[in-house]
Amino acid sequence: MTTPKLPNAVRIVEMGPRDGLQNEKQLVPTETKVELVRRLERAGLKAIETTSFVSPKWVPQMGDNAEVLARVLAQPAAGVAYPVLTPNLKGFEAALAAGAKEVAVFGAASESFSQKNINCSIAESLARFRPVTEAAHAAGVRVRGYVSCVVGCPYEGAVVPPAVAEVAATLRDMGCYEISLGDTIGVGNPASIQRMLEAVAMRVPVELLAGHYHDTYGMAVANVHASLQMGVAVFDASVGGLGGCPYAAGASGNVATEDVVWLLHGLGIDTRIELDALVDTAAWISGQLGREPASRVARAVLAKRAQRAPAGP
Ligand code: HMG
Ligand code: MG
Repeated sequence: MTTPKLPNAVRIVEMGPRDGLQNEKQLVPTETKVELVRRLERAGLKAIETTSFVSPKWVPQMGDNAEVLARVLAQPAAGVAYPVLTPNLKGFEAALAAGAKEVAVFGAASESFSQKNINCSIAESLARFRPVTEAAHAAGVRVRGYVSCVVGCPYEGAVVPPAVAEVAATLRDMGCYEISLGDTIGVGNPASIQRMLEAVAMRVPVELLAGHYHDTYGMAVANVHASLQMGVAVFDASVGGLGGCPYAAGASGNVATEDVVWLLHGLGIDTRIELDALVDTAAWISGQLGREPASRVARAVLAKRAQRAPAGP
């Protein structure tokens, strides 16, 4: 039996402050959002998606975007990128004014999701992204591209791989340096994710692809492993498994960062992330939100620590 060769090192793009918090009903204080970024930096994350420059009428939780980004960028950690979402030129200009050095445009492989999420068709969204990528590149700002609903759509059901490949290739042609493939509602499994990756990799080199898997059905870690076997070496993840998309009812958070780190370290793959500090961060932000961390690894590590702690008086 031949074992697929896995990447030696993996980059994790932390989603907690953006995808993780965007769906929280209670408004999270700006101070807490900035502190979350600081704790993630200390745990070793080198890319932290910090906020999104979308309409506050659509996503009130991200209404303090300019303040969060400006405060984070006032004391940036060495070698850390702080990308932000920008759906259109208005969002890009606001992000640039707040100091953004990296932005992301976000499209979808499903027409209905595109309409619900950003109020336009797939073709209109791509036409909006082009001036954003041009303005960003002129300003020396890097642009990442997302494709949502890469396996399934909450409104249309199954999504076919060529539809994903088409949007991914268009984003790449616009100059997105990396294309993040979103299983927005977490319906993928290793077989459907690999079929999707095979189709996309025929249009965009696999080195430029990232996996962005939500964990609704508990398959996200398995999907990360299946993607590693296909040569994908970048994954989006959210500390504590926080999050969900406001336009994908019932979808749960991204795969938990600590679950991915546990998997990767177990496979002997380097991340330069400290698991204990990450678990502390998961416990802290979950406490701020009034709940226990959702991730299996955070729960297991915290339970083990509690067993070891000396009994009280
Ligand atoms: P729209 O209403 O079609 O925009 O929204 P418009 O151009 O017609 O403008 C309407 C109003 O919005 C105007 O204000 C604009 O100024 C304002 P008014 O005159 O009524 O006072 N506006 C803005 N304000 C602030 N920032 C902006 C902006 N643009 C227009 N950038 C829009 C279009 C895209 C803005 C809207 O649909 C929106 O904000 N949607 C939110 C989308 C979102 O945040 N979704 C969640 C993130 S995506 C995600 O989670 C998926 C991902 O994780 C991958 C995966 O899991 O699959 C990335
Ligand atoms: Mg997402």
